[in-house]
Amino acid sequence: MDQNELKALVGQAAVKFIEDGMIVGLGTGSTVRYMVDALGKRVQEEGLNVIGVTTSNRTTAQAQSLGITIKDIDEVDHIDLCIDGADEIDTDFNGIKGGGGALLWEKIVNNASTKRIWIVDESKLVKRIGNFGVPVEVIPFGAQHVFNYFVKQGYHPVWRLTDDGAKYRTDEKNFIIDLKVGEIADPKVMAEDLIHTVGVVEHGLFLNRVDQVIVGRQDGPEVLDV
Ligand code: A5P
Repeated sequence: MDQNELKALVGQAAVKFIEDGMIVGLGTGSTVRYMVDALGKRVQEEGLNVIGVTTSNRTTAQAQSLGITIKDIDEVDHIDLCIDGADEIDTDFNGIKGGGGALLWEKIVNNASTKRIWIVDESKLVKRIGNFGVPVEVIPFGAQHVFNYFVKQGYHPVWRLTDDGAKYRTDEKNFIIDLKVGEIADPKVMAEDLIHTVGVVEHGLFLNRVDQVIVGRQDGPEVLDV
């Protein structure tokens, strides 16, 4: 199976955890795309009654096109289950997210969810997180000063750009700076530094934020309980 087939497999496995009447957090990314497709199929074929709360405008558009009911996060008082992707997961189940630029809404939805499942192909499992880089969402005002601070900290920052060379904008119209730090010795220390940097809205270190991981392996999906 190639990587896309593994992603489709975990996406399909994850929707089996969705029950009638649930409020479901819908993540963002290429793996989640398969999951939302599979959920749309259940809604259409079984008449499954769910409300989705999305983590990006992209996911909203896809979900609505499949007939999944979407509500704004502030229209619901809780989320039963959030299913999202991840860019890297270490052996303590700490993760990096934000490769798709949706880390802020993803963390907010993750925070509001009773149960959190991440779906990944096996290439995302690593001993230590960091080689992917750490995406950091910063507000545009004064962003160059934040960038300069990251240089001083030795975080090797790089602006995330669009294909035409402009600075990438998130759904909240913020910028993303990717920190090319390599393996992180202590993610907690780095997370503390990032969140206390004025101008940083959120970062892609997701520490202690998952309850189950579904890994796409050649011999089928494996469910890991955290
Ligand atoms: C989106 O901002 C990310 O957090 C994604 O969940 C993560 O990048 C995984 O994406 P893929 O499933 O496309 O690898």
